Amino acid sequence: MLLVTGGTGLSGQFVTRELVARGHAVRALCRQAPPPGTLPDGVEVVLGDLGDPASLRRATRGATGIVHTACTYTDSAVDVAAMAVLLEGWADGPFVYLSSLDVYGLTDADPVTEDAPLSESMNDYARGKVRCERRLLAMGRSAHVALRAPYIWGPHPIARRRLLPARLLEGRDLILPGRDAAEWSRYRDAWVDVRDLAAIVAACVERPPGVPLNVVTGHFVWHDLYETLLSLTGSASRLVHRPIEEIQDEDLARKELFARTWRFSEARLAATLGGFPRRPFEETVRDTVSVGG
Ligand SMILES: NC(=O)c1ccc[n+]([C@@H]2O[C@H](COP(=O)([O-])OP(=O)(O)OC[C@H]3O[C@@H](n4cnc5c(N)ncnc54)[C@H](OP(=O)(O)O)[C@@H]3O)[C@@H](O)[C@H]2O)c1
Repeated sequence: MLLVTGGTGLSGQFVTRELVARGHAVRALCRQAPPPGTLPDGVEVVLGDLGDPASLRRATRGATGIVHTACTYTDSAVDVAAMAVLLEGWADGPFVYLSSLDVYGLTDADPVTEDAPLSESMNDYARGKVRCERRLLAMGRSAHVALRAPYIWGPHPIARRRLLPARLLEGRDLILPGRDAAEWSRYRDAWVDVRDLAAIVAACVERPPGVPLNVVTGHFVWHDLYETLLSLTGSASRLVHRPIEEIQDEDLARKELFARTWRFSEARLAATLGGFPRRPFEETVRDTVSVGG
């Protein structure tokens, strides 16, 4: 019986379905009973909270492996303490931890490989991810992996809500940094399709690599993503580029995230899994935008 935390979350739902489809028995840790149809038949639901160690101990009892996708996003102390309890309860099998590419912070490496130094400096969320990864590694066991994810997209209302900027839904101008095309065409980030991620998680459950992996389907240029979103939604918004120093918080919150130029290497992921599923950008974005909700 594999324990999947965050059973009602975006990745948790897809991972649970993938594991069940491959014949694994799954116990899902959820904060509340999932609405009917959220998880496949036969999945055992256990109610619990990352801030409630006793509930985590109950959840790990008898588990033959753990896939940890749940995260508070807002309280690294709770996330790290929960990780410690889950690791104490990790008696058997693999431990797959869903981490983030934010563990590299604002890096000078390009491409960013898994050997790049980790940094807690970006924010509290990144601090939690780095500390959880270190605790996992400190167990000194081989059947584990930290999967460092970029933006996770795919056909689910949670992903749709995150992908579509509020300004686009309101028909207001979308602001992105960049003086001219030469500059804005360098501003990129990475994404992974949640269906591909679920398949990668399942492969790691079955053969845990014992080293962290960047899980990147590909890289996208922010300008291209926003053009695609405008075209798919038929929004009345216009895409406007401005020099980054002229962009105010109300135009674009955390503007520095939209002006990154580096790439993340997926070479280790490909070598470890012998290739991996990668849906094309257009398919992932279209499927994410066209889902109901
Ligand atoms: N989404 C991204 O773009 C992204 C990018 C990089 C890394 N990641 C990492 O990947 C993992 C999965 O992300 P996701 O976006 O797929 O998940 P998600 O949809 O944000 O779901 C997070 C899950 O954690 C659960 N959770 C939150 N606080 C909890 C608490 N106090 N106790 C128990 N459960 C709690 C949520 O429960 P409810 O369902 O009840 O809300 C939800 O099921 C996370 O660890 C995240 O840090 C995500």
